Amino acid sequence: MTQAVDLIVIGAGPGGYIAAIRAAQLGMSVVCIDAWAGPKGGPAPGGTCTNVGCIPSKALLQSSEHYEHAGHAFADHGIQLKGLGLDLARMIARKDQVVRQNNEGILYLFKKNKVQFVHGRASFVGKVEGGFQVQVDGPTPQTHTGKQVVIATGSSPRALPGVAFDEERVLSNTGALALTEVPKRLGVVGAGVIGLEMGSVWRRLGAEVTVLEALPDFLGAADAQLAKEALKQFKKQGLDIQLGVKLTEVKAQAQGVKLQYADAQGAAHELEVDRLIVSIGRVPHSDGLNLEAVGLQPDARGFVPVDDECRTSIAGIWAVGDVVRGPMLAHKAEEEGVAVAERISGQKPHVDFNTVPWVIYTSPEIAWVGQTEQALKAAGRAYKAGSFPFLANGRARALGDTTGFVKVLSDAETDTILGVHIIGPMASELIAEAAVAMEFKAAAEDIARICHAHPTLSEALKEAALATDGRSLNF
Ligand code: FAD
Ligand code: NAI
Repeated sequence: MTQAVDLIVIGAGPGGYIAAIRAAQLGMSVVCIDAWAGPKGGPAPGGTCTNVGCIPSKALLQSSEHYEHAGHAFADHGIQLKGLGLDLARMIARKDQVVRQNNEGILYLFKKNKVQFVHGRASFVGKVEGGFQVQVDGPTPQTHTGKQVVIATGSSPRALPGVAFDEERVLSNTGALALTEVPKRLGVVGAGVIGLEMGSVWRRLGAEVTVLEALPDFLGAADAQLAKEALKQFKKQGLDIQLGVKLTEVKAQAQGVKLQYADAQGAAHELEVDRLIVSIGRVPHSDGLNLEAVGLQPDARGFVPVDDECRTSIAGIWAVGDVVRGPMLAHKAEEEGVAVAERISGQKPHVDFNTVPWVIYTSPEIAWVGQTEQALKAAGRAYKAGSFPFLANGRARALGDTTGFVKVLSDAETDTILGVHIIGPMASELIAEAAVAMEFKAAAEDIARICHAHPTLSEALKEAALATDGRSLNF
């Protein structure tokens, strides 16, 4: 079957499905092709994010946090619980149900927006008159021609050299989200976002967690003050985080995994764990697309090279999300997807990478937008800093969660906000106000003068903004 459509989108993760919907809203005929198969082999659009990433990890983070609160924090609120137990099978089934709801939601959105969804693996056949031909291998093999194509094929977990993921003992994010019992001893290689989120889930559910990180600095991309506070809190919770580690051997055994490593001082150690999560970054997914057929070539690391506006070197072929440069974040992929659809239809959208927020959904949550204090120092930029601790925030005290602080950095002369860094309760939600402020080029004084409802956690942001001018009211 051959159909000529305005746009073919390869991949239905957050980059692809959002691009497809926006293009359809703009009047284009759109085919979106995605290979992900659900547990019964049927289509499961939503990509890594929906199936084995953002959504299931947040479901388990929430469930495990409820469990921890029930075991520890509730007593403080005067709530007595007896016979607290863990039904892991039910917790995992709930997570799976949340994933399915998202898969189904995307299928519904495709229908609503008249996007033709095809389940299967796509690859380029070549350039033909009027567009690009793409074939789909799947339940119903077919060929489509698109005037334009968006590549949104995402990324896959990076394995340690010579240590394949078996998802039984050596786990990627996929296995880490689907354990059927809580491991007694869990190892995590890589103290990045996945390592910290997944390590937190399984520690709360009862595992002894050891995290081995190669770099000497913890969370190097975050503001150093935030990273320091986060490390202190995670260690206090019982995560054994070791920095500056060099792995020398990782061996899967019948019952678990044995690791040999040198610590930061060079001393040799051996660690035996029941399960090992390897979370050392992700690799772009450009294999198998037959890019050569249309004259494209991935770079040495597998990324599809694009310009600032997601154009590849071939006119009419675009690429967005994890398969291109920039942070591997769902909301970054979505913004690129929308912008590409709008560019194809002749609009002039703009994505500001400096206002893409970062969130790590641990407890305490960590979130930031804009530049870190160390980056401003390194750039020789004159800035003002203002902080406010949640300990001095009435709502945080009422919640019983006073860990952390908000830090606002603004230009010394113009007061324009340059970065906002939050560690503490609901940081993931609070950061949105900071992103809006930065997008509108607000000054710290703008936030300081805006009326924030009382008592809310958002008052901590207002107070940190006031603090840049040395006029905190509540601290
Ligand atoms: P993907 O979501 O990877 O989707 C790509 C899709 O393309 C997949 O469905 C794939 O099957 C399909 N595909 C690939 N090749 C082909 C082909 N040849 N033919 C057809 N289909 C193909 N980001 C956040 O912003 N917030 C979070 O909280 C967060 N949590 C995460 C937690 C974990 C455990 C992981 C692993 C990632 C997390 N991320 C998070 C990152 C986020 O998942 C990715 O940045 C995002 O999914 C990238 O979107 P994408 O559309 O580029 O690719
Ligand atoms: P990451 O890049 O966040 O962290 C990987 C860590 O592994 C780094 O600290 C790195 O120094 C370390 N490392 C690399 N090789 C190592 C080795 N051989 N031994 C020990 N440590 C080693 O990657 P991660 O955690 O795998 O996540 C991938 C991406 O997925 C993230 O960068 C992020 O973009 C996305 N993600 C986003 C989330 C969010 O937004 N909340 C949640 C989870 C993932």
